[in-house]
Amino acid sequence: MFNQDQMKQIAGEAAIKYIKQDMVIGVGTGSTVKYFIDKLSTMRNDIKGVVSSSLQSTELLKTYNIPVLDLNSVGQVDIYIDGADEINHYLEMIKGGGGALTKEKIITACSKKFICIADESKYVPKLGTFPLPIEVIPMARSYVAREILKLGGTPDWRSGVLTENGNYILDIHHLDIQKPIELEEKINNIVGVVTNGLFAKRSADILILGKKNRQIEIINR
Ligand code: A5P
Repeated sequence: MFNQDQMKQIAGEAAIKYIKQDMVIGVGTGSTVKYFIDKLSTMRNDIKGVVSSSLQSTELLKTYNIPVLDLNSVGQVDIYIDGADEINHYLEMIKGGGGALTKEKIITACSKKFICIADESKYVPKLGTFPLPIEVIPMARSYVAREILKLGGTPDWRSGVLTENGNYILDIHHLDIQKPIELEEKINNIVGVVTNGLFAKRSADILILGKKNRQIEIINR
């Protein structure tokens, strides 16, 4: 039986087979992505480079001398590889546990293909057990929290945490997420919200799951 870390490792490493010559790759953030970057280092001379979603991932890429590219210069990424905090059977996700959700969502929007890598504990029938992270402009924190209460959620300020964009994170508990796309749009419409961690409108195209039984399962949307 594999433990959670080993499941993350086989999922992260399996994503390498989707990387082709001269591609521009996008990478997310987290412990599963770390395994992908470790593996990607063996192909660093074959790819054009990587657009990174966080300082944490950028540091690791630099350690391996993998070229880090600016999204504005490349315009688009061929493939985006990232983890998730939860992912359902439609490959809609909750992300942002690591606080990098805004940059992650921006790269997602510019990617031709989105591959999610995760251990099997993340694969759930319904999203919402994991609290939904929302990045908010600091002065709007309390207003956004009150609006979220109206939607039935319980906001919890990730106090002491500032995102790389200088904003706050609210983690929303007890949300009944029946329709992820509708809720994603509704929360985006609250003034002061920068990004919410529902990745439903642009879901993943492929899910690579690392399983306890040491196998990989590939799930296509
Ligand atoms: C980062 O902000 C998140 O969206 C990550 O994708 C998520 O937290 C997954 O992290 P692990 O790979 O460490 O489980």
